[in-house]
Amino acid sequence: MRVAAFGILVGVLVIGSVPAAQNSAGPAKTPLTFTKDIVPILQRSCQDCHRPGSIAPMSLLTYEDARPWARSIKARVVNREMPPWTIDKNVGIQSFKHDRSLTNAEIAKIAAWVDDGAPRGNPADMPPPRVFTDTSKWTLAGVLGPPDYVIPIPEPFVVEPNAPNMWIDLIAESGLTEDRWIRAFETKPSQEGFPVVHHATTSLYDEDADVVSDDSVSFSEYALGKTGDILAENSGFLIKAGTKVRFNMHYAAKAERITDRTSLGLWLHPKGYVPKFKHIRQSVGNVQDLDIPPGENNVRVDGYLFLKDNVRMTVFQPHLHNRGKRQCMEAIFTDGRVETLNCVNWNFGWHIAYNYTEDAQPLLPKGTVLHVTTWHDNSTANKWNPDPRNWAGFGQRSSDDMAFAHVSWYVLNDDEYKQTVEERNHRSPGNRTTVGAP
Ligand code: HEC
Repeated sequence: MRVAAFGILVGVLVIGSVPAAQNSAGPAKTPLTFTKDIVPILQRSCQDCHRPGSIAPMSLLTYEDARPWARSIKARVVNREMPPWTIDKNVGIQSFKHDRSLTNAEIAKIAAWVDDGAPRGNPADMPPPRVFTDTSKWTLAGVLGPPDYVIPIPEPFVVEPNAPNMWIDLIAESGLTEDRWIRAFETKPSQEGFPVVHHATTSLYDEDADVVSDDSVSFSEYALGKTGDILAENSGFLIKAGTKVRFNMHYAAKAERITDRTSLGLWLHPKGYVPKFKHIRQSVGNVQDLDIPPGENNVRVDGYLFLKDNVRMTVFQPHLHNRGKRQCMEAIFTDGRVETLNCVNWNFGWHIAYNYTEDAQPLLPKGTVLHVTTWHDNSTANKWNPDPRNWAGFGQRSSDDMAFAHVSWYVLNDDEYKQTVEERNHRSPGNRTTVGAP
């Protein structure tokens, strides 16, 4: 009885819907398809990692690859967990180089495609496959080509099965026979070593202090999912002939024996070219007096840095550990105005260097105070939390925590600063958000 009634009802609906569709203003809505609508998004925002030999667990190159993951893809993109991009889209600067995050429209497209049964569509609509250079190693290679110079740790490093955590310094000869200016750099474990490298920081090193040229000896840092640092176009970082590089490594063993050979890749300015500005990278708002009670959420700390020079900021990279939840960086100007530069919703899996586009690079006059606010979550709600029953404080282990941002900039003298502000105001009048002048 109920079955029959249901059948009649469906019949009526079907019959009724035909004229309705014909009468509607436009043609019937064609469903979104993989080949036409979804692949372009995957090519731009996913395939660097989701392809054979790269860091993600599965490939998203073809329909056959992607189809079994449709529901998971929808969940991850709707929650903005994929592609990894922790910048809060609702506040602060949104203009970054190499931004592979999705627009709301792209997210809606993926969701609608999955809800429609994730159809393949016409194979002829498929755009040509992306051609990959060997980016399995250098994330910047896709943008800049392979590095000009690679400095590996001195010897391959063997991490024995289930060995305790190791923090060690390895000093490598750079082998450089002439002074060169660096325009981009990236620190990376070897493909095989990847699973055991918790972090690797690189810095210029020399016992002979005058070979270390400036106050900016900190280079680059790798941690899971880290990208590289690209310096502003007219700036550079000097590495002198004979300089050594110090790798500070944290190895966390696996059940099997794994050999790593982490290296530092350098992209150089052409020989003889001297960039106008010297790149500086430093930690901002570093709070070491952390007191994170067990089970507690939204534990807040505030760190500050007074700028004694005018700066043009180029890169923002928050650094927190497992219990990190959120971080915001704001500028407090001498006239009392306060501007949020950026916030991130932290995810310990991803240490991303956010490179501002030229026109969005914050211009901050001397006297500005940078204020970094960090929140930690030591509750069970945090899936990265190693143990919500434990108090946590500052420390090097990822089960300890940290709260600061790696920030890069270069210094402008007063005339250069004034000129840069004028140029910026000329190009985008009324846009004062990243300019300190009242
Ligand atoms: C920077 C590298 C990177 C990019 C870009 C990236 N992913 Fe991922 N993705 C990963 C890694 C690594 C994992 C495994 C760790 C994890 O689950 O977070 C992953 C996991 C996933 C998972 C979960 C798989 C599972 O085991 O359940 C899905 C689904 C996913 N990604 C979809 C996407 C989509 C869709 C895009 C693009 C819109 C994308 N990813 C972009 C690296 C990336």
